[in-house]
Amino acid sequence: MKNAKETKNKNDKLIICNWKTLVTDPKEAKKILALYSKFSPKIKKNLIVCPPSPFLSLVNDSKLTSGSQSVSPELSGPTTGLVSNNILKEMRVKYILLGHSEERARGLTAEQLQQQIKRALEVGLVPLVCIGENTRDSEGKYFNEFKKQLSEVYKGLSKGQADQIILAYEPLWAIGASAKRSATVEEAEEMIMYGQRYIKTELYPPHFKTPKFIYGGSVNEENAASFWNSHHVDGILMGRASTELKTFKNLVSKL
Ligand code: PGA
Repeated sequence: MKNAKETKNKNDKLIICNWKTLVTDPKEAKKILALYSKFSPKIKKNLIVCPPSPFLSLVNDSKLTSGSQSVSPELSGPTTGLVSNNILKEMRVKYILLGHSEERARGLTAEQLQQQIKRALEVGLVPLVCIGENTRDSEGKYFNEFKKQLSEVYKGLSKGQADQIILAYEPLWAIGASAKRSATVEEAEEMIMYGQRYIKTELYPPHFKTPKFIYGGSVNEENAASFWNSHHVDGILMGRASTELKTFKNLVSKL
């Protein structure tokens, strides 16, 4: 029998579906959303769908919670090619996935990320910020990389603003079709606890609440439940698995 603390924790866990541009056809998008819509209210309550921008209204029309995959660092104005916070807010989008390694690889800088986070908070959108080391070395230098990313994320934020941020530990080496493996649950837990401790003791001492920290990177049908069941992992973020109908249905049935 689970204790109350554990049960509460599970009910608060997030399931983030990052479609990237893996879904390209609106018909396919509708099929996936129809599957999501059949999940239990408990699952749907914490399911956040981050489709390519043109499909955001399909998500909202399905009464599911939407998240944007990106946003302009400006609220509006001369930013051809970008979606702005103001537009997302008007479209009833609730979350924004920021700092994803695929965006960083396209040149997203720490300053731009900070600006995106601040603007999102200004209009009341919740930033879901991805961080994670590039590679793992035997001397543990990746812990420093992790700390640097965390201090960049929180730079210049008041405690009240910092409180709104949700973090995703997404080690680069575990993401996408070319990844050899996901992180293990133990590796994810270690980084999450390390990050939470760093934020609470060095960035916002002394009484900062423990930030929500989820895991992403090759989450699949086989390993999803073990991340989900970890007391230290506040949810899962999936790319590929969230777009494959049968796989995702089976995966969710195990949560
Ligand atoms: P993946 O992607 O689940 O396909 O590894 C995760 C992500 O990039 O967010």
